[in-house]
Amino acid sequence: MEDLLKKIENGRATVGVIGLGYVGLPLAAVFHRSGLKVRGYDVDERKVTLLSEGKSYIKHIGVDVVKDLSDSIRFQATTKLEDLAGVDIYVMCLPTPLGTHEEPDMSYVFGTSELIAKQLMGNQLFVLESTTYPGATDTDVLRILTKDNQLEVGTDLFLAFSPERENPAGSGDEAVETSIIPKLVGGVDESSGVLAAALYRCGGFKNVVKVKSARIAECSKLLENSFRVVNIALVNELKLVFEKMDVDIWEVLDAAETKPFGFKRFNPGPGVGGHCIPIDPFYLTWKAKEVGQRSEFIEISGRVNASMPSRIVDKVQLALNDVGKAVKGSKVMLIGIAYKPNVDDCRESPALKIWELLLDLQAAISYHDSFIPKVPKTRTHKRLEGVESVAISEEILSQQDAVVIVTDHDNIEYDMFKRVTCPVIDTRNRLRRLKGINVVLA
Ligand SMILES: NC(=O)c1ccc[n+]([C@@H]2O[C@H](COP(=O)([O-])OP(=O)(O)OC[C@H]3O[C@@H](n4cnc5c(N)ncnc54)[C@H](O)[C@@H]3O)[C@@H](O)[C@H]2O)c1
Ligand SMILES: *[C@@H]1O[C@H](CO)[C@@H](O)[C@H](O)[C@H]1NC(C)=O
Repeated sequence: MEDLLKKIENGRATVGVIGLGYVGLPLAAVFHRSGLKVRGYDVDERKVTLLSEGKSYIKHIGVDVVKDLSDSIRFQATTKLEDLAGVDIYVMCLPTPLGTHEEPDMSYVFGTSELIAKQLMGNQLFVLESTTYPGATDTDVLRILTKDNQLEVGTDLFLAFSPERENPAGSGDEAVETSIIPKLVGGVDESSGVLAAALYRCGGFKNVVKVKSARIAECSKLLENSFRVVNIALVNELKLVFEKMDVDIWEVLDAAETKPFGFKRFNPGPGVGGHCIPIDPFYLTWKAKEVGQRSEFIEISGRVNASMPSRIVDKVQLALNDVGKAVKGSKVMLIGIAYKPNVDDCRESPALKIWELLLDLQAAISYHDSFIPKVPKTRTHKRLEGVESVAISEEILSQQDAVVIVTDHDNIEYDMFKRVTCPVIDTRNRLRRLKGINVVLA
């Protein structure tokens, strides 16, 4: 352990980053910037090629960041896991999605861990960054990594969990740079924790918080995300309740927000999307069942969230009805299909669900989202794949029968909605400052 610690502290360690996606790529960049040698591994040839050419494939990661990597002799991107043999540290940033029955899909993490187990040489640190259920690191990953070798955790193999807290840029909060967000680390034993903390401290993170165990770090991540999913569902449910009482939730939020303590504002909207908030909490509900304890708040939040798109489609239907039109055959334009403002990510986005529901009603749908020029491949929305964003102008908006603002990116000229004559269904209350237009809050 001492040798590895010294190597890390002297900046001589080589880090292998497994998975160069939204999490892995910025992490590789932070480690590299702090002087470490970094090897990045991904099965996606396209990403590895783009990286070697100094091109970014993630909107909020600038070309300069990627160029720094591609120009450096301390960085190598590869599609071959063999190229990582002999690294001192593995940091795994692979997807942890849900399966078809909302059960954790740990196949990426477990499958690749099995392959890594075969190339472990001893005196190495392995850190899992993928969100997971409590115990995944100290039980399942540990078992896989030590199955067919003589390695012993805490002696010649060190194992830790460190949750990713990346805040995709432009969330409306300040875009927080990866390296200044406090970085939690928890080892499966004391030495592992010490080594992992040293890695992130020396690897460019300004504020490393070492907690007692990997499980605490895993649970902290789940608490953070459950907190969001529950509060967003709560405010969405209250929106519907207040609406029936003729009360505008937005006015209520402004009022409540004047309380200087004990209140945190969450805004209503079309539901939660993205790769984390809709998924991670269900890792916890799944694991909770195993120990005979339900996590009902999370389950209820999931149900409230799931009902939001059809509520919004109801609003579209009513608004069209008001002007004497049926959904069938109506031209409906969706503005913003990313799951939140100013990001180029539409994974799990409620917009796609709203789109599908409107298609079922035979509306003619188009969308505008400059962050997502073309709908990417998704597991659940095959019908939408490949559809391209159209431009917007007053003229184009005026040719629609209805317009739905699903996600309010900042780069749209909202003033042009002033002169739109068709109903505008605004799920984010973006147009609240524009008076006297035909807006339906949804
Ligand atoms: N995106 C976020 O903001 C965020 C925030 C917190 C936590 N997380 C968690 O981090 C983890 C990674 O998420 P992400 O958003 O970076 O996902 P991602 O899909 O952007 O990245 C995963 C990468 O892994 C690659 N990959 C897939 N299978 C592979 C394999 N077998 N071997 C090597 N590479 C493989 C993919 O090509 C992709 O580049 C997930 O557990 C997620 O829940 C993500
Ligand atoms: C919320 O609903 C969206 C679809 O509208 C879905 O993609 C997402 O997974 C859901 N999230 C939760 C927490 O159920």
